[in-house]
Amino acid sequence: DREKDLELRGPVVTFLGHVDHGKTSLLDKIRNTKVTQGEAGGITQHIGAYKVPYKKSSIVFLDTPGHEAFTSMRARGANVTDIVVLVVAADDGVMPQTVEAINHAKAAEVPIIVALNKIDKEGSKPEATIQQLTKYNLIPDEWGGDTVFVKVSAITGAGIDELLEYIALVAEMQSLEANPKRKASGTVLEGKVKDGKGSVATLLVQNGTLKRGDFILCGGAYGRVRDIIDHTGRTIKQAGPSTPIEISGISDLPEAGDKFYVVKNLSQAKSIAEERKKNLHEKNLEQGSRKLSIHELM
Ligand code: GTP
Ligand code: NA
Ligand code: MG
Repeated sequence: DREKDLELRGPVVTFLGHVDHGKTSLLDKIRNTKVTQGEAGGITQHIGAYKVPYKKSSIVFLDTPGHEAFTSMRARGANVTDIVVLVVAADDGVMPQTVEAINHAKAAEVPIIVALNKIDKEGSKPEATIQQLTKYNLIPDEWGGDTVFVKVSAITGAGIDELLEYIALVAEMQSLEANPKRKASGTVLEGKVKDGKGSVATLLVQNGTLKRGDFILCGGAYGRVRDIIDHTGRTIKQAGPSTPIEISGISDLPEAGDKFYVVKNLSQAKSIAEERKKNLHEKNLEQGSRKLSIHELM
């Protein structure tokens, strides 16, 4: 990349934490929406991705399921992220998935901001929760550490502005850059089949700009980008760095965690995709029945 083509990009922030500690509710409050009410059983089933304007820039939020069955996806969520917001309900304290989330964030070497949620609740114990978190080396500056703790409530909205300010501050220190002039690349957040659209993929564009009509390779899937839809459901013509989108026009279902790239033409996309599938097949034969996901081969 030529230096002059690099531009600041918004941070990608993943909300991690124990089931029902309020990740989706906090995001709803930030976006002024009610996603939680539409969720089956109030459980987030997949990674929800949203781009929210903030001051002169924007912040991408990834909401992740808190259910244990989704641990591996959550791990991948942490891999595309610049900052982790660890959501801990202050009435419940540190729980098994809180610890998992801390481990994911530490493995990904990304800064952690702790959101102590549900402080509106009677019986919430934010100080005791902070005390518990010190065991995992998350220590507030009053106690000699350098972790940011913000007391929040997804119900009253208390502390939300402060949380956003800290996110922006931490992002500023990271000086995150990308080159919007390049061909797009990034990560698949989800693949699914949609009525009338065939295979669709939720992508996070991390570098470059993805355009309608581009030839794309996502894991073992390939194709020509047909529609690009932003997180509000609007059709857009192109998407730059730090943008979550949904695309159609691909041959197959990619998996969460697969990387995507724009390539020169369809035959190149097809031959690389087929090569990958063949390698996958051979590896599977070598290793017995253990199934490898395509991203393990990259
Ligand atoms: P999973 O996606 O299942 O892991 O849950 P989650 O972390 O997204 O939690 P969710 O937002 O679904 O909230 C769980 C419950 O806690 C819901 O009933 C929310 O209304 C409630 N809740 C979330 N935040 C707060 C809060 O700040 N205060 C109070 N009183 N209740 C909250
Ligand atoms: Na929930
Ligand atoms: Mg949720």
